[in-house]
Amino acid sequence: MNARVTVFGTGYLGAAHAACLAEMGCQVLGVDTDSRHTEALARGEPPFFEPGLGELIRRGLAAGRLASPAPTPGPRRSARFTSSAWAPRCSPAGTALTCRSCEPAWRRLPPLLREPCLVVGKSTVPVGTAAVLGGDLARLAPVGEAADLAWNPEFLREGHAVEDTLDPDRVVVGLRSAHAERVLRAVYAPQLARGTPFFVTDLATAELAKVAANSFLATKISFINAIAEVCEASGADVVPLAEILGADPRIGPASLVPGLGFGGACLPKDILGFVARAGELGVPDALGLLQEVAAVNARCRDRVVGLAAGMLGGSVAGCAVGVLGAAFKPGSDDVRGSPALAVAARAHELGAHVTVYDPVATGKARSVLPGTGVRGFGGGRRR
Ligand SMILES: NC(=O)c1ccc[n+]([C@@H]2O[C@H](COP(=O)([O-])OP(=O)(O)OC[C@H]3O[C@@H](n4cnc5c(N)ncnc54)[C@H](O)[C@@H]3O)[C@@H](O)[C@H]2O)c1
Repeated sequence: MNARVTVFGTGYLGAAHAACLAEMGCQVLGVDTDSRHTEALARGEPPFFEPGLGELIRRGLAAGRLASPAPTPGPRRSARFTSSAWAPRCSPAGTALTCRSCEPAWRRLPPLLREPCLVVGKSTVPVGTAAVLGGDLARLAPVGEAADLAWNPEFLREGHAVEDTLDPDRVVVGLRSAHAERVLRAVYAPQLARGTPFFVTDLATAELAKVAANSFLATKISFINAIAEVCEASGADVVPLAEILGADPRIGPASLVPGLGFGGACLPKDILGFVARAGELGVPDALGLLQEVAAVNARCRDRVVGLAAGMLGGSVAGCAVGVLGAAFKPGSDDVRGSPALAVAARAHELGAHVTVYDPVATGKARSVLPGTGVRGFGGGRRR
């Protein structure tokens, strides 16, 4: 596929997406307002730790299919380059339709679109966002309705970003035109050739597909953690119990692992944003379940500190506590919303001398640990 694609925002999702699109044969320009991200990409390094991504970026650069300009001239050049554009992140931080971090890009992009193009949203957004953005596009782009919009939610998992992007279990595209479908089928031709399920929907269904999937995963995680609470109270063992539940094909073992609960930059904000959006849509009771999911998740951290205190004679005060792993999940250096760091900070508050070790995420953990008094050591970023 020889499409020219500009990827706006080369963070965890965008950098992987840009490199994978180049691998799939597209001509890709990755732009970001953060020069550390564009400079790292242009040097052939991912801006963060993600297995296999460095190699893919370097291959894209060497083949001349991937470029990442400095931020300053970015918007104009990238708009000229654009054939399809992937929009940057939106963060529905609690209340729906507050796409603050993508608003600046969104305000600047449409007036620059002087050639017919397709703008494709990848961010996880409150349902209804794409319809609003699509209206802006037709109104503000010099090419008018020749600037089309589609929504293509991303299901990749950090730590598996390359394989999940190149070989996804499904591709979902929310569309308004047959032309958009043709463009996206051409971009995803390698996946379609392998038989990857390709779901074509309206914009709202595509937006919901992502946030509903994340809500279900969060629910599964909180379910097994709620069962763990009952196991602790009753003397049962949640580990074999989870295996027994997961052996039922109607349930499945994925995400049925008791532990510290979910974290990261996506699941916590996505479920709270979803609850808020349901309220705005006049169905506040529909997602009451997710509030309980969030409450179970919040309890997990305190329960782990409580378990440690129990094993240490009732209190962690004055004890040396080691926390193995700082990232919110294995295979990543992403410490946003890290449950492990929440536990570290809580133990420190209770008087423990806490040291955190992570083979790749300690550098990032250090940037969020100051002020908590928690010490971090171990590897920095590795590519
Ligand atoms: N991280 C994941 O695994 C993942 C998976 C699926 C979906 N998502 C969704 O993707 C979106 C992005 O998540 P992320 O984890 O990659 O976030 P991120 O913070 O790592 O990346 C966002 C990037 O956008 C850049 N940016 C912000 N404003 C910009 C602008 N005006 N122009 C160009 N670039 C700009 C930032 O500098 C940053 O590099 C979110 O909506 C998230 O929910 C993320």
